[in-house]
Amino acid sequence: MEIIVTKNYDEMSQVAADIFRKHLEKQPKTVLGLATGSTPIGMYQKLVEYHKAGLDFSQVTSFNLDEYIGLAGDHPASYRYFMEEQLFGLVNINPENIFIPNGAAEDPEAECRDYEKRLRAAGGIDLQVLGIGTNGHIGFNEPGTPFDTTTHVVELTASTREANARFFDSIDEVPTHAISMGIKSIMKARRIVLLASGENKAEAIAQAVKGPITPGLPASVLQLHPNVQFIIDEAAGRLL
Ligand code: PGA
Repeated sequence: MEIIVTKNYDEMSQVAADIFRKHLEKQPKTVLGLATGSTPIGMYQKLVEYHKAGLDFSQVTSFNLDEYIGLAGDHPASYRYFMEEQLFGLVNINPENIFIPNGAAEDPEAECRDYEKRLRAAGGIDLQVLGIGTNGHIGFNEPGTPFDTTTHVVELTASTREANARFFDSIDEVPTHAISMGIKSIMKARRIVLLASGENKAEAIAQAVKGPITPGLPASVLQLHPNVQFIIDEAAGRLL
């Protein structure tokens, strides 16, 4: 595990965007694992700038980590909508190569199995970006999720629903369940970059890096991954 501590959010976003840019320049036909949340927005903005300067996404396939159950892709709080706004609508990725779990699927369990199949058929993820929850979750894999889970239906914890309520009119509108790639699916990515910014992530980062490897702190599993970088700003690295 490599830890890169940056001065602030902007520098974190820059370092991360440069990793993605170099990867795409070297390997234009690639499978990216993408994340939502506030943290990767700066990185996506910089990638959009790189695209305007010529960076090509035409051969990229992407898989997103998760989606709320009950929200269709055109709901402004859905993760598909977020990705369209932040990245997909602004670069030349082929819409046919964009994969996000379908939160409006009639049978979410079948959707999970299909998603895992699509992931396998694409050959797995070459480069995965992750955020981290204040409770150490990755994707929507909340504390207690066994390390061998593949894409699955999760019940969101109260703390995650509260943290995400800012994207909804009220907490009552935050879905109670989501589909998330599992820890095992994430760990299969050939390279992982985890981003964290701000003091409220410091405890989770310290536990993930130095604490015991335990399902109680899902991100701690990354200590077992052979090619992972944490790119965190000083505030998030405060307890290291
Ligand atoms: P955030 O979410 O980037 O909005 O802080 C990260 C996460 O919960 O994984």
